[in-house]
Amino acid sequence: MRQWQVSPLTAEGPHSRGFDTVLVVDFGAQYSQLIARRVRECQVYSEIVPASITAAEVAARQPCGLILSGGPASVHVDAAISLDPEIYELGVPMLGICYGAQLIAEQLGGSVARNERGEYGRAELTVHGERSQLLAGLSSPLPVWMSHFDAIVSPPPGAEVTATTAASPVAAFEDVERGLYGVQFHPEVEHTACGRRVLGRFLLKGCNAAPSWSMGSIIDAAVESVASQIGDGRAICGLSGGVDSAVAAAVVHRAVGSRLTCVLVDTGLLRSGEVDEVQQVFEEHFGVELVCVDASAEFFEALAGITEPESKRRVVGEQFIQAFERARSQIVDAEFLVQGTLYPDVIESGATTHSSTIKSHHNVGGLPEDLRFELVEPLRSLFKDEVRALGTELGLPPEIVHRQPFPGPGLAVRIIGEVTPEATAILRHADAIVRAELRSAGLEREIWQSFAVLPDIRTVGVMGDERTYGRPVVIRAVTSSDAMTADWARLPHDVLEAISSRVIAEVDGVNRVAYDITSKPPATIEWE
Ligand code: XMP
Repeated sequence: MRQWQVSPLTAEGPHSRGFDTVLVVDFGAQYSQLIARRVRECQVYSEIVPASITAAEVAARQPCGLILSGGPASVHVDAAISLDPEIYELGVPMLGICYGAQLIAEQLGGSVARNERGEYGRAELTVHGERSQLLAGLSSPLPVWMSHFDAIVSPPPGAEVTATTAASPVAAFEDVERGLYGVQFHPEVEHTACGRRVLGRFLLKGCNAAPSWSMGSIIDAAVESVASQIGDGRAICGLSGGVDSAVAAAVVHRAVGSRLTCVLVDTGLLRSGEVDEVQQVFEEHFGVELVCVDASAEFFEALAGITEPESKRRVVGEQFIQAFERARSQIVDAEFLVQGTLYPDVIESGATTHSSTIKSHHNVGGLPEDLRFELVEPLRSLFKDEVRALGTELGLPPEIVHRQPFPGPGLAVRIIGEVTPEATAILRHADAIVRAELRSAGLEREIWQSFAVLPDIRTVGVMGDERTYGRPVVIRAVTSSDAMTADWARLPHDVLEAISSRVIAEVDGVNRVAYDITSKPPATIEWE
């Protein structure tokens, strides 16, 4: 039986069959992920592959096009990452973006020079060449977004210069015959107004790709692939209340029906109402068999006296495995385990090597290796926004589909010091107030995460005529797009005031509310 592992990105993704596929060659992950998403927004399926991919590997995937991403490097440094030159011989249409365009120029006989000064931010693009495939019909000049130091001086022989800017003599080149295209600007960013159209023309005209990647076809492909993987076997899926595990379970349920059993471990560290909500959606609405294990007493007993953050995480992880095992023993013969792994998890787990930022993985539910299941990962090639759309299409309620991320170790990472049932009850109550107030202000979706934290200190207060010596609660709300960096949310003062007065009035033992105004970095999102 297969073990728990992430297969290399050069392997075929679960969705690639049946769709025209564009491979995005990764020279810097933050650019390539965005490009891959934009390609899918044009309804063409895309996958990210490492820059070390060989011509034979590309040929085996039979892509209809290649996009070489931008990246932080310079083509002139000794260790510059280049592309297997035989890839150029395959005749697959190719678009280079920024570094990718410079690389095509450099490798195919054009030239790239170090500019006196770089070109960063907005630039005016002058479009030339009536025969342009990418830029035809666009008015000129056009605002585009640039971020480069080196500049292409001459395109590969045979290619035509189809756009320039003040600092870039070759802002775009095209060799329509050979299917070679390069743009110095970034069509994937929003500030490049014509970006979507440029990418769309490359895909539809340059690659002749069929725009067939739609929500309906994603569901069909996912359901079909799960059904053929599981066959007439049985699967289990741990639900956390979060969107990823919920959507993964819904896909598998559609594929194998009653041969899926879901498991919900009540760690005692979940948010208010979470267990009921999962039961209602999965048991009552979908009719999924759900095993709920109330393991809160075991969790609190194991956490007693522990204050050090990493030790708390370790204990929560160990308890989770034990509780999951207890639940599993009630399920006969399940040989498949469903996981809500997403495409960014696959990319960030090190499958591509040229990212300048590496996200550390901290998942509870990281089950031990001797639990030998075959993994079913129906969301493995999807981005978060695609997963949300899929969840909606599958009939999951908006409260689950648009839920904010919640850490695996739950409220334990928001209680500083010892995690006791009393501290958890205070925090859960305060957290429910924060969520309710943000929801009623219509802010819950635009805030990345918003929650309460319980520090391990006491402060003096006065309530009525009496001095109090109570606990403060800290409110944390951040905006972010990927949790790697975050800014503190500028919540309206009246929302903060409503939260503060309700927490003080309703949560026993709390006499002060503070708001965390630190970005990440230097702080993290969670307090731990
Ligand atoms: P930090 O606190 O490192 O958190 O800025 C970054 C993001 O990760 C979430 N987080 C976790 N998610 N298991 C998870 O699935 C965990 O153990 C875990 N710890 C932190 C955190 O909520 C934020 O979104």
